[in-house]
Amino acid sequence: MKIDDMIVEFGDTRELVKNIPDKSVKMVVTSPPYNIGKKYGKYNDKVTIEEWEELINDITKETYRILTDDGSFFLNLSPIPYGPDKEILPLPFIGYQIFKKNNFYLRNMITWNFNNMQNCTNRLSGRYENILWGVKDLKNYIFNLDDIRIPYITQNDKRLTGKGRNPTDVWYYDRVNNMTKKKHGLTHPTIYPTEMIERIVLMSTNEGDTIFDPFLGSGTTLVAAKRLKRKGIGFELDIKYKEEIEKRLTQEV
Ligand SMILES: C[S@@+](CC[C@H](N)C(=O)[O-])C[C@H]1O[C@@H](n2cnc3c(N)ncnc32)[C@H](O)[C@@H]1O
Repeated sequence: MKIDDMIVEFGDTRELVKNIPDKSVKMVVTSPPYNIGKKYGKYNDKVTIEEWEELINDITKETYRILTDDGSFFLNLSPIPYGPDKEILPLPFIGYQIFKKNNFYLRNMITWNFNNMQNCTNRLSGRYENILWGVKDLKNYIFNLDDIRIPYITQNDKRLTGKGRNPTDVWYYDRVNNMTKKKHGLTHPTIYPTEMIERIVLMSTNEGDTIFDPFLGSGTTLVAAKRLKRKGIGFELDIKYKEEIEKRLTQEV
């Protein structure tokens, strides 16, 4: 399916990605399945940790191949309750090891903080996920800081330049809740906030660049790309999200 500059294909991302030429994508941003038993439809979100690592490793390897030399990879991962006793397994740590295995340098590990989530009674309630930002070359990557600056805390300080401050590596964005989903007619269980992806698109790419999301879900990455005049490619296993993606790419932009 093609909507303006956005290409969407359905099937296994590990196969589809092979058709993307070397060094043709400026940025990859994605939130892969977390292996916590979410009901996506086709995808079995409860596989062995080895199988999960293999999936993330395959995609990281292909991401390295298709990224331009100044390209960036943003991988959203979370600590998850795992196994019969629900010990916390920090998937971002595994993500970091996979990054290193595939020659990525870690530029930041962003903490995405949010509030609206379930409360725990036997441990502290989880209120963050991480976004690992990997680059191929620490001396050559895009970082448009001026495009993502946020207002100063003290507005009247004369030493401040007026451009706003660095948003730091701790970001607050509300999760997309059921009310918002209902309002937009969406059913996907794990939609990430479009504004957060817009910040990533702005800081790491320029107009006309190509962005890729190997686990497209409901299409958030391409909504952000289209709003900001970038080109986009997205792959999703489950055809049942086709209508949802199509609707978002025509109505939310
Ligand atoms: C966490 S969700 C992504 C949600 C997305 N960020 C959004 O905002 O809607 C992960 C998605 O990956 C898809 N998926 C899982 N395995 C896949 C595979 N091998 N190839 C393509 N898509 C896959 C699932 O169906 C699910 O929709």
